[in-house]
Amino acid sequence: MTTLSIIKADTGGFVGHSEVHPEMLSEARGALHDAIGDGLLVDGQVARCGDDISLIMTHEHGPDAEAVHSFAWQTFLRTTEIAKRLGLYGAGQDLLSTAFSGNLRGMGPGYAELEFTERPSEPVICFLADKTEPGAWNLPLYKMFADPFNTAGLVIDAKMHAGFRFEVYDLHQDKRIVFDTPREAYDLLMFIGAPARYVVHSVESTTLDIPAAATSTQRLSLIAGKYVGKDDPVMIVRCQSGLPAVGEVLEPFAFPHSVAGCMRGSHHAPIMPVGLEQATPARFDGPPRVVALGFQINDGKLIGPRDMFADPSFDRARATANKAMDYLRRHGPFEPHRLALEDLEYTTMHQLEARLTNRWEPLPTAGEEDSVLATTPRS
Ligand code: F6R
Ligand code: MG
Ligand code: MG
Repeated sequence: MTTLSIIKADTGGFVGHSEVHPEMLSEARGALHDAIGDGLLVDGQVARCGDDISLIMTHEHGPDAEAVHSFAWQTFLRTTEIAKRLGLYGAGQDLLSTAFSGNLRGMGPGYAELEFTERPSEPVICFLADKTEPGAWNLPLYKMFADPFNTAGLVIDAKMHAGFRFEVYDLHQDKRIVFDTPREAYDLLMFIGAPARYVVHSVESTTLDIPAAATSTQRLSLIAGKYVGKDDPVMIVRCQSGLPAVGEVLEPFAFPHSVAGCMRGSHHAPIMPVGLEQATPARFDGPPRVVALGFQINDGKLIGPRDMFADPSFDRARATANKAMDYLRRHGPFEPHRLALEDLEYTTMHQLEARLTNRWEPLPTAGEEDSVLATTPRS
């Protein structure tokens, strides 16, 4: 069995939160090179989207393996040192714990892992996003695996016609549930249409009984109890031969749907599919970005990547994202650009409530409407 792990963290931004410094990337590349040489990993590559470093690794240790998670943690400590030395922004931002213990759960870095028996040809897409949260994958995953208007194979491929199973996490209550589609598609949508709370963690093929997709599902703010940076999730999707084709897996991103994130993690903005060169969110710390790195996995080796969104067929999605960004930006501090009060990552509301608590008055009863204004001096 092969395990494909993407483990990612923001360990410092260059400049602000827009990119990763090249020295940090080469440090991570060196660490991966050594880990392959030591036999810990079969293969590995470093990628970045915005200010997040992703370690894309293949190995035989299974998901949640202490050795692999510990290696990623040590690597992020090394990139943090560089960020500190260069005075980069938010050095070590996602490393919420002071010491590693067992695995990365609850420690800050995000990870998506998929263990599978390699098929004769194994195409996978690794999606990396910046300036958004894990629920951002809900809509594209639904389209890939449950929407026949996106995925023709659901209707015309006998291996896909029975549908897919979606495992959904409730991030507020730490519990999970599995929905069978198409039978329970409407039940599924009731939950994953609320992506701040319900997040698709994995998808399996009903006919083939094999894993098809996995996401990172951590919410940093729920771990840290305060805003430390948006989660900037990653996702792995296997493709072809009874799973959605590569083109069906990419197709949902032709629509730059609105996600939570962007400036201060507190705004709705469109997610823009981009090639690696354009994965550098600048305007209003956004718009959020997603890159898609395609690999063929061969005996555990990562053959690739192909930069799948560096393609003119996604130009219109980018143009639409810029238009949607203009439209939303004009709302300024108003919803639906700004997130609803309970989802805000930054807020001054608690201080305001405390400061203004004595200024609130009951609404006037009929006939007393003018009482407040009448006592307010006018010039
Ligand atoms: C987005 C993000 C940024 C910061 C913003 C303010 O995920 O992290 O939008 O929230 O740049 O950062 P501070 O508060 O550090 O000045
Ligand atoms: Mg950052
Ligand atoms: Mg980031």
